[in-house]
Amino acid sequence: MLNGFPGPNRRRVLMMGGAALAAAGAGAYMFYPREIRASGPVKFDKELAIPPLEKGRMVAGERVFDLSIRNGSTVFFEGIRTETMGINADYLAPVLRLRVGEKTRFNVTNTLDEPSTLHWHGFHLPAAADGGPHQTINPGETWSPGFTITGKAATMWFHSHMMHKTAQQVWAGLAGMVIIDDDEADALDLPREYGVDDIPVVLQDRRFTPEGQMPYILDMPSRMHGMIGNFPMVNGTIGGVFGARTTLVRLRLLNGSNASIYNLRFSDGRSFALIATDGGLLPAPVRTRGLRLAPGERAEIVVDMSDGRTARLINRGGGGAGTGGGMMGGGGMMGGMGQGTPDLTFFEIRPRKRMRSSPPLPEKLADLPVPDAGQAVRTRRFQLEMGMMGAGFSINGRPMDMNVINEVVKAGETEIWEVTATGMLAHPFHVHNTQFRILDRNGQPPSPVEAGLKDTVLVHPGELVRILVRFDTYRDDRLPYMYHCHILEHEDAGMMGQFTVV
Ligand code: C2O
Ligand code: CU
Ligand code: CU
Repeated sequence: MLNGFPGPNRRRVLMMGGAALAAAGAGAYMFYPREIRASGPVKFDKELAIPPLEKGRMVAGERVFDLSIRNGSTVFFEGIRTETMGINADYLAPVLRLRVGEKTRFNVTNTLDEPSTLHWHGFHLPAAADGGPHQTINPGETWSPGFTITGKAATMWFHSHMMHKTAQQVWAGLAGMVIIDDDEADALDLPREYGVDDIPVVLQDRRFTPEGQMPYILDMPSRMHGMIGNFPMVNGTIGGVFGARTTLVRLRLLNGSNASIYNLRFSDGRSFALIATDGGLLPAPVRTRGLRLAPGERAEIVVDMSDGRTARLINRGGGGAGTGGGMMGGGGMMGGMGQGTPDLTFFEIRPRKRMRSSPPLPEKLADLPVPDAGQAVRTRRFQLEMGMMGAGFSINGRPMDMNVINEVVKAGETEIWEVTATGMLAHPFHVHNTQFRILDRNGQPPSPVEAGLKDTVLVHPGELVRILVRFDTYRDDRLPYMYHCHILEHEDAGMMGQFTVV
């Protein structure tokens, strides 16, 4: 009963008999309306949760955030409380708003009864502030990393990075979004009113027990593919509706799932403009109808609702090539489409009767230099491997070992990292402490949607992806940063390595 797969349905409940029904309690029938099938509930009748915005407080020239990692409980289904974890919240976290150039400090207190960490995904920062597996926060302790925000206006995130427990803790809710502002982006006429026309969209999928809990139970398929759910959620809302008050709506998409590679599109096939990827704005908006977003990746899109018609953001599961996600492949292989994630409907955008008309999108966004492979002084190779039946998750044949520094990189030197994957699955390769550029996939330059700043890149089996990386500023010959697959189950099982910057 606790295998959690596939999703609950009415017939299954009836088959479970009296004991299970008693355990499920009075809420059981609300939890199993007939519409709920394995593909998930699609009743869009709840207001989409918009996490509160947290701007911190200024203390002696620093922007300070007090964050508490804690247990909580969340109502995903009417009448049922699900045990969850969050950061200053029952599930997920407030959206943190930071600014480039500002000194920032996070006081992170762990109130759980197990160790945890908080990693700043996408940031350039000292290794001691990274929040990876070496910055464990024990129960009752407070960890206070501080650093100056660099880079560009972007959508970043933070999440648990606890050794062997990242997947479980993120599944329970230990993740949140960060919005970074800068002058360059402020000068552009982009939708930027938080919660009105600038919307955080944390995309996840979860599976539930018949009692409505979402325990982390790794069965054989999830060891291989990672934990994949049949219930889509956005900011923790299942079946959410967002009422659009403006003709243009900017969505800050974050794939915060454990393992799902989403092939996103709108239910009516409408096009949208991609304006930013992991590390910030693209040189110009890119019009598309489909977008592939792997775990860890972010994308900012602007969708035009001026026709007054409702549109739903959906994932096309099912493994077929050419389901929209292919557009992001930019010449990449088609493997890895879906990888077991079903069709999902994330949320609905419902235009209000009266909408304010938004100014048109700027034609030019950020200044981005053309990546120059000629600057590279060295090439390193990273081969992602799962072994037979997922028995040997590793990179270059070595599973993650906290006591082994796999690579030593010189600060300020540009390098080419060649990433390949063996086996059947695609892996989102993520590098800490930097924003990199994709040089090519199998020798083909990246499509415009992948040509911006990135910290995570999907690598298909049999493909050779070359990225141009550089690590500035911070040196530490002792404490490492991580590179790893962002399918969290793969990361936890050893598809991760460590590098120092000296
Ligand atoms: Cu998003 Cu090493 O993490
Ligand atoms: Cu990271
Ligand atoms: Cu992987």
